[in-house]
Amino acid sequence: MSQESLEDLTLVEHPVISRDLTILRNKETNIAEFRQALKRVGIILAYHALKELPLKEYTIETPIEKTTGYDIDQEIIVVPILRAGLGLTDAIIQFIPNAKVGHLGMYRDEETHEPVDYYSSIPEGVEDAMVLVVDPMLATGGSAHDALSFLKKQGAQHLRFVSLISAPEGIKKLRELHPDVHIITSGIDEKLNDDAFIVPGLGDAGDRYFGTV
Ligand code: PRP
Repeated sequence: MSQESLEDLTLVEHPVISRDLTILRNKETNIAEFRQALKRVGIILAYHALKELPLKEYTIETPIEKTTGYDIDQEIIVVPILRAGLGLTDAIIQFIPNAKVGHLGMYRDEETHEPVDYYSSIPEGVEDAMVLVVDPMLATGGSAHDALSFLKKQGAQHLRFVSLISAPEGIKKLRELHPDVHIITSGIDEKLNDDAFIVPGLGDAGDRYFGTV
């Protein structure tokens, strides 16, 4: 598995990701195939997003003798940006079954391309937790910026942003406004079009994942 790590961005590359991003981009892909491909990529991204977690040691006994064991020493909170982020949430929970889940509801106004907030529910303990904000698409970066700013106001200090496909414009915005937030992504596309859609992208991830196309 190759992985390009810049200081504040990890571009995760893997043959499974190359194949699955193609499935996700293809407009002929049906909803079942779309969901399966998104989940598979999500699991690889989750593995990378959780790489820096601190460990604590404790002693266990194998059937042979005592040895040192390890457990994860930080609470994890996953925050999907609704709706499309829901498709990535289970990938984190597969690795961290006791992770708490917050929700941030926002949609992008089709005219202004600005995010509109409609719901928020964040669990307690956000100050000390590793908070993973998940959304398949980082386009202008407006939604991600809103989400990260909101979470910082709630006290979050250890934030990461996980996306499938990112536009250079969104990456630039997050680097400028949230240099402390590491981005984990499986694709950096060419640009945004006049409607602020990622090119070539995959269309509207939420619509394709939930069948509201
Ligand atoms: C999409 C996507 C991101 C946002 C990205 O959501 O899932 O949340 O747009 O765009 P931005 O970086 O320019 O803010 P959308 O508004 O389509 O809502 P949905 O998830 O409910 O489909």
